[in-house]
Amino acid sequence: MTAVELIERKRDGGALTEDEIRWFIAAYVAGEVPDYQMAAMAMAVFFKGLDGPELAVWTDAMLHSGDVLDLSGIAIPKVDKHSTGGVGDKASIPVAAMVAACGVAVPMMSGRGLGHTGGTLDKLEAIPGFTTALQPDQFVSFLGRTGLVLAGQSETLVPADRHLYALRDATGTVPSIPLIASSIMSKKLAEDLDGLVLDVKVGSGAFMTNLEDARALARTMVDIGATEGTPVVALLTGMDQPLGNEVGNASEMVESVAVLRGEGPDDLTELSLALGAEMLVLAGVADRADAARRRLQTAVTSGAALDLLARVVEQQGGDPAVIHDPTRLPVAPSHHIVEAPVSGTVTHCDARRIGVAAMRLGAGREKKEDDVDPAVGITVVAKVGDPVAAGDPMAVLHYRDEGRLARARAMAEPAWSIGDPVEVPPLVIERMGPLSP
Ligand code: URA
Repeated sequence: MTAVELIERKRDGGALTEDEIRWFIAAYVAGEVPDYQMAAMAMAVFFKGLDGPELAVWTDAMLHSGDVLDLSGIAIPKVDKHSTGGVGDKASIPVAAMVAACGVAVPMMSGRGLGHTGGTLDKLEAIPGFTTALQPDQFVSFLGRTGLVLAGQSETLVPADRHLYALRDATGTVPSIPLIASSIMSKKLAEDLDGLVLDVKVGSGAFMTNLEDARALARTMVDIGATEGTPVVALLTGMDQPLGNEVGNASEMVESVAVLRGEGPDDLTELSLALGAEMLVLAGVADRADAARRRLQTAVTSGAALDLLARVVEQQGGDPAVIHDPTRLPVAPSHHIVEAPVSGTVTHCDARRIGVAAMRLGAGREKKEDDVDPAVGITVVAKVGDPVAAGDPMAVLHYRDEGRLARARAMAEPAWSIGDPVEVPPLVIERMGPLSP
């Protein structure tokens, strides 16, 4: 079989067999199928999709492209959380610390920024010294020690996703239900979990911009979990405007720490509690969401969640002092204020525009090889429902390079609409579990 034949068949809407999919993914990881052929295949899948049996095999082939963790030696329940990607979405970091502080193991394998969305790994790597590249034995021993690991795909853990994730980012093939579902579920199934909570984003800043597509993505992943024997709950949550106030890398770490101090923005705190409560219920350490929320809140007020995050940072080579004093994180040398052009109420704050603007400042990658700049980003001051007067700051662009600032301003400045008072849209739109229709 040749890669070209398989690409052509998928391009023309045909189905691939189990052997063909397994061969293609293994050959890609081995370097025998080059990036350009995988990019062509990803584009063919983007347009023609994968049917149920193809998706099951594609996900399984990615999952088994490297080692699958054996966490049977960890006696406590193991539950993880993953987001389909958003702007300012740093919830994984506070949620993981809060849940682990409640006695649930969180073996979290995350991703880097994709397109205009941020990535948990890039945010964590804003901490000096912090490494997300762990060998499987380190992963397991760190998890046993603190109950929380924050790592990335590697050459030994889900290498197919490690390579394909970066390739999709650079080839316009991210917003595809089968490619997102297989990327997320291959990482999560490699973690040997007892349960998984998914935050499926919907809105302008998400890869699924309408509810129907978000539901289809959520259903696809919940069903993969059911087939593999891993209970999955999905919350469909709004991503028309950024989550919290910070969009960047170091600044999102600062905001994550603020949640763990009980000082985070309301939307981020509320979402963290909603996701964390689902995780505690799935883990069986709370029988209802309200009891679970109280446990999470205690983990914050007692300082246990913050202390645990500091220990995890130290365990992964980072400077733990930044968790207690986040002003030690990198800060951009210059800033520019975006002012409200008229008075009124913010009716819209386009998350996609803000995400692309942050990427143009250097917080994300425009090409696969780009490094992210941990210090640059955007502070979103005016959010939907906020009253503003002409001249009030709506955002602060933290930048290093004037050329990048000009490109970021062109994208960010039209992000806001100002008009008559509006209702703030709900954050959690719906919940989908294994038993829902
Ligand atoms: N998160 C992932 O891990 N993969 C995707 O494709 C999108 C979001």
